[in-house]
Amino acid sequence: MDCTTEPQNITIDVHLSGETPANVQAELREGLTSTPRTLPTKYLYDDRGSELFEAICKLPEYYQTRTERHLLNQCADQIICLTEAEELVELGSGAATKTRVLLDAMARVEQLRFYVPFDVSEGIVRRVAQELVKEYEGLHVHGVVGDFLAHLEHIPDGGRRLVVILGGTIGNLDSQAALNFVSSIHTEMASGDFFLLGVQLETSIKRIEAAYNDSAGITAAFNKNILHVMQEMLGASLDPDAFEHVALYNTTAHRIEMRLRSKEAQHVQIPGLDLSFHLEKGEDILTEISTKYDHPRAETLLKESGFDMIKWYTDSEELIGLALARKP
Ligand code: SAH
Ligand code: TRP
Repeated sequence: MDCTTEPQNITIDVHLSGETPANVQAELREGLTSTPRTLPTKYLYDDRGSELFEAICKLPEYYQTRTERHLLNQCADQIICLTEAEELVELGSGAATKTRVLLDAMARVEQLRFYVPFDVSEGIVRRVAQELVKEYEGLHVHGVVGDFLAHLEHIPDGGRRLVVILGGTIGNLDSQAALNFVSSIHTEMASGDFFLLGVQLETSIKRIEAAYNDSAGITAAFNKNILHVMQEMLGASLDPDAFEHVALYNTTAHRIEMRLRSKEAQHVQIPGLDLSFHLEKGEDILTEISTKYDHPRAETLLKESGFDMIKWYTDSEELIGLALARKP
């Protein structure tokens, strides 16, 4: 860990080196040999992937980011008043653009002390820390680079906490994984702490599918970036040009399923995993799901994880929901 070059009000802890190559290999091997073959979502977000995701957030078809930002603008003051938060912890913080709305609200009532961006992408955590200490006087940023499914116990303590997840990130977990995740967040929190969960709501299939099939092809490039990551990490013979980006809404499971479809029959070799397999023409590798919620499903998730529901916010078109909950 290198803290010496950081200004005094930045601390960055890196927990990813704790992942042994054997763990990583086992996880990847298991995904690639299951039916359908899958790749863990977190590998979408290397530095290039994080940049592509930022570009997705600005696409006209991707209505989610601007809607969530608008909704936060409307309710941030009330959330900060209700929670009296002094420490904002954000899981899957990314570029933390919308986070500024909450930080501004905290600053207005002179309650802004600590911000904890928690993300698997080290480059973006470091960048956000540098930006925010410049933008907010007196703010201490304690970044955590880690896997939020494995390293939650490393969240530092800094006062009355508000933990937030935005950007539909909860939807990238299936229902069992989401329940396990929110339950472990609950375990890490102190009694009386608040949790703000952003969810993307079910809307027309046409609108949802367009958000994941943009005309500029940025989402396709983002999806295919996972193949570059596998090439670099493991020497995999996965040529992005040999795959087609596919994103279709599964109405039964209420989710977008993002896939990479093999354009031709091919033999894949992954030296870093000591693995090879055959892909049929038209065979898919599942790279991401994005579950759409409704108010009852969001509330059930929070209650089953041990939280009390405090407040539900939504925009006029009911595209995004923000559920404010509290650990009793
Ligand atoms: N909160 C931002 C970014 C959402 S994208 C927004 O609302 O726009 C999801 C973010 O979660 C990415 O920055 C990605 O790097 C991070 N992420 C994905 N899986 C993760 C994991 N297992 N552990 C920690 N961070 C993860
Ligand atoms: N959390 C985002 C979402 O579910 C992630 C995302 C948006 C995404 N567009 C994507 C993931 C394209 C993979 C590919 O909306």
